[in-house]
Amino acid sequence: MAGPMQMYVYIHDAILRDVAEMEAIARELNRDDPEEIAALSERYDLFHTLVKKHEQTEEDVLFPAMNDRIQFVAETYLYDHNDSDEHMFADIAAAYEALGRAESKGDRKESARALWREKAVLNESMRLHISKENELLLPHMEAEFDVAEQAELAGAMAGMVEPAMMGQFVAWIYAGQSPPDREGMIRFLQMIVPEEAFTGITGMLSGMGDAEWAEMERRIPELAES
Ligand SMILES: [Fe+2]
Ligand SMILES: [Fe+2]
Repeated sequence: MAGPMQMYVYIHDAILRDVAEMEAIARELNRDDPEEIAALSERYDLFHTLVKKHEQTEEDVLFPAMNDRIQFVAETYLYDHNDSDEHMFADIAAAYEALGRAESKGDRKESARALWREKAVLNESMRLHISKENELLLPHMEAEFDVAEQAELAGAMAGMVEPAMMGQFVAWIYAGQSPPDREGMIRFLQMIVPEEAFTGITGMLSGMGDAEWAEMERRIPELAES
C-alpha cells in the first residue's frame, strides 16, 4: 500500500520480521552463554516497547476513528492487544526471568525450551494479528477515509511518538528492510518530517552502515548533496 499510511505498513513489516528472527535465535540459543541471552533479551525489550507504542497509537487514534464509521470492527483488534498483554507478553517475561534464575544444567535446558516455545507463540500470534490488520482492517480504512483523512490519522499517530522513540522506530525498521523499502521509507519521511528532524534521521541512518547508505545515496541522489 502506498499513501499516507505507508509508515504503518512498514512498522507491521518490522514487527513480523523481528518476531520471526527472535524465534529463530531462541531456537538456536546457547543457554550457557549469558551474553547471548542478554542480547536476545535486550532485543526483545526494544521490540516490546515499540510494539506497545504502536498498539497505543492504534488504540488512541486509528481504532476510535474506525469505530465511528464501522461499529465493532476496532473492538476485535483491541481484544487481541489486551489478550496478548495478559497471556503472551507476561509469559515471555516469566520465561526470561526463569532462564536468568536457572542454575542447574537441567533447569537451563528446560527454561531455554520454554523461552523458545513462547517466542514461537509470539511469532504466530503476531503474524495472525498483523495479517488481519493488513488484510482486513486497512482495506476498510482506505474505503472509509479519503487521502486527506488518512494523512490526518497518520499524522496523529506519528504525533504520539516522542522524538527519541521516533529515532528508535526508524532505526529498527531500517535495519531489517530491503533497499527498495528503505528508499520508500526515506522518501516518505522526507515528505512528512520537518527538514531539521529529517536531517537528524538521515544522519543516524547513514551511521548504520556505509555500504547500505551508499546504496541509498545512489537511489536518492539529493541525500548525497545535503
Ligand atoms: Fe494491533
Ligand atoms: Fe498494528
